[in-house]
Amino acid sequence: MSEFKKRDEFIPYNKPDITDAEIGEVVKTLESGWVAKGPRTVEFEKEFASHLGAKHAVAMNSCTAALHVSLLAAGISKGDEVITSPMTFASTANTIIHVGATPVFADIDYKTGCIDPTEIEKKITPKTKAVVPIHYSGEVCDLDRIYETADRHGLFVSEDAAHALESRYKGRLIGNRLKGTASYSFYATKNLTTGEGGMLVTDDDGIDAKARIWAGQGMSKNAWNRYAKGGTWRYDICEPGFKYNMFDIQAAIGLKQLARIGSMQERRARIAAKYQREFAKIDAVEQPFVPDYAKHSWHLYVIRIVPELLTINRDTFIEELNARNIGTSVHFIPVTYMSAYTKRYGFKKGDFPNTDKHFERIISLPLYPTLTEEESDYIVAAVRDIVEKFHK
Ligand SMILES: Cc1ncc(COP(=O)(O)O)c(C=O)c1O
Repeated sequence: MSEFKKRDEFIPYNKPDITDAEIGEVVKTLESGWVAKGPRTVEFEKEFASHLGAKHAVAMNSCTAALHVSLLAAGISKGDEVITSPMTFASTANTIIHVGATPVFADIDYKTGCIDPTEIEKKITPKTKAVVPIHYSGEVCDLDRIYETADRHGLFVSEDAAHALESRYKGRLIGNRLKGTASYSFYATKNLTTGEGGMLVTDDDGIDAKARIWAGQGMSKNAWNRYAKGGTWRYDICEPGFKYNMFDIQAAIGLKQLARIGSMQERRARIAAKYQREFAKIDAVEQPFVPDYAKHSWHLYVIRIVPELLTINRDTFIEELNARNIGTSVHFIPVTYMSAYTKRYGFKKGDFPNTDKHFERIISLPLYPTLTEEESDYIVAAVRDIVEKFHK
């Protein structure tokens, strides 16, 4: 057995990577006199689209807003069915209900944690209008198979790319040359943060125009500019829209984060490579599986414990990590377990067997650019120590 020494300081599950560059740009924004949606938001949209090689990017106050607006802009509404994965944060499914449609869940591929294209196919009915695949943890969905199915059935694809900034499918960044839309999250824990925030990306001019209207109170084009010189007080409300826009203080952070995304990603990838290498040596821990077609963004590092080899379950494993001063999370409690969904649709355990099995085993370990070598070494040692102590 290896010697394990408990550290005194707690390693938090996540810490945002904020430098003087972001702080300086926020101060400049505050001093500029333009703190609501304005020039920095427009610049962030342009820079983000150009980074991905996408035609349009619409900045919003969350990924949830972007997912909602994506469905609105695609005309999804009452009576429609939208297929998504149970292994996601609730907002992916909630926004389907917000447009009046019915969420229909398709089980995941156990290997990747992403929606299984074969299961999508099984759930299609004459009412199906769209698919919302989630690039779970920064792993990527099998997009060729999903778009092939979607094209055959005339379905709109709204990719939930909350975790997928810098993920690649067959060499191309998620968001590059999109047929549908991709929605990104800039929440505090994400690979790029603006505190809270999101972005809807599309190559479709019509979706872009509609999204701007839906996200901006339903106001006619460029109404944010009405207080500037040359702006006009006249505007129309052409849809009963939402107050979903990003504003310049957020965009100031986003611009500087985007400029540093390469170095932040390098750091994530280095830690993930260490985890992959070290956990491969521990039989009671399964590492994330990265298919040949994928480049992982390493937003999350999700291990699965192998309960058959242990005397403890996942919940106790988490308690043991906590006792060793390591913060963790679980991504996700399946949406179909939530009372809002069981009450409405009557879901029960066993409906999505791969999701059940995945959920019972997962633990998200700390992975962020400011995590030190010493901290990541300690996390590996702690996992090894728990496995050694509780091995059957
Ligand atoms: C898969 C997924 N989709 C959507 C969201 C919603 O993102 P936001 O908090 O920016 O609305 C999250 C949030 O973490 C998420 O994990």
